[in-house]
Amino acid sequence: MVIEPKMRGFICLTAHPEGCEKAVLNQINYIKSKGQIEGPKKVLVIGASTGFGLASRITSAFGANAATIGVFFEKPPLDGKTASPGWYNSAAFQTQARESGLYAKSINGDAFSNEIKQKTINLIKSDLGKVDLVIYSLASPVRTHPVTGITHRSVLKPIGSPYTNKTVDFHTGNVSTITITPCTEEDINNTVAVMGGEDWEMWIDALIKADALSDHAITLAYSYIGPSLTEAVYRKGTIGKAKDHLEATAFKITDKLQSLNGKAYVSVNKALVTQASSAIPVIPLYISLLYKTMKEKGIHEGCIEQIQRLFKERLYTGNGVPTDEKGRIRIDDWEMRKDVQDKVAELWSLATTENLPEIGDLQGYKSDFLNLFGFGFADVNYAKDVNENITIDGLQ
Ligand code: NAI
Repeated sequence: MVIEPKMRGFICLTAHPEGCEKAVLNQINYIKSKGQIEGPKKVLVIGASTGFGLASRITSAFGANAATIGVFFEKPPLDGKTASPGWYNSAAFQTQARESGLYAKSINGDAFSNEIKQKTINLIKSDLGKVDLVIYSLASPVRTHPVTGITHRSVLKPIGSPYTNKTVDFHTGNVSTITITPCTEEDINNTVAVMGGEDWEMWIDALIKADALSDHAITLAYSYIGPSLTEAVYRKGTIGKAKDHLEATAFKITDKLQSLNGKAYVSVNKALVTQASSAIPVIPLYISLLYKTMKEKGIHEGCIEQIQRLFKERLYTGNGVPTDEKGRIRIDDWEMRKDVQDKVAELWSLATTENLPEIGDLQGYKSDFLNLFGFGFADVNYAKDVNENITIDGLQ
């Protein structure tokens, strides 16, 4: 079928298999161009099909020759209906891994469930024995708790008082003012249940119990801080409470890994266009101003550049892991530079519908967003009939 983008709000309902393959190949080529990393050898990536998790899987496999098992929750294709982009990304990743002689298997299902944890552990035990790196990169709006059966839904809201600020509809470029009403106590609890550290800890508990972690194993989850401009809706909002919980969980997990000499880290990453971040109000305007500023300064990075730097210059330096005073790895260092943030704040005060295409990188935002779904690549022929019914090699 001929596949075109079908936008609904901050989501695109279609995905292009050849465009997704292109996106994966670009990331693999970037990693190969940066040389080998003395990194992990057997890696489990939970949330491996898009964004930071996919970049982590690609960096492990093509940067460090690691065997990888990827867990994700993606929609398979149906006749006449495309799969979700993470499905096509994973199909492309698996094909490339096989052609390069790298072990790679994938599991599609709800990572929050006991069933998928057990299936993953069985696969590790039978194929790899143990893993030495576990990346936890889930971003989800909903989690059904495996013990209580309760389905929690996360919300993206400020805490305490309403928050009013500028935002942009990145499809139309329209800059407007929005007011977001504050959350309830229950909203906070639900958001922490979905995006906090409980499920990460459950994964590590299950892996320890099954003796599926190597000596000196590392586990890593991703967090975000960002500037004061966005803190009411992000770091001091409901999602920030979940990130506080995730960061605190790293210490709990490190204690549990003591007998293995293992360690849990949280890496604070840069704000980037992903399916998860485009759903957060205000953030797209911030990202379009940030991209413009960082591109002008020659320090812009996407997911793959971030994770390559994270592996090479933070996690696997051969000389310890540098962290901030709260024990977090910081790979948002360039985003948070004073000159970058001063410039973004200045642009923020000026931003209007009329001037945003000029003072912000709205085009870059839109193009990254389209790329997430496999659209907008110059060398993909979108007028051509393509097979939407792609299978994933190595899917369990
Ligand atoms: P994403 O939306 O690109 O990726 C989410 C991944 O989780 C996908 O592989 C998806 O299949 C998987 N997933 C979702 N629900 C699942 C479930 N129930 N079972 C199995 N897999 C499931 O998100 P992104 O942006 O890469 O986020 C990953 C982490 O990075 C999150 O913790 C996020 O908060 C963090 N982060 C994101 C930043 C950003 O600007 N995008 C900045 C800093 C941190």
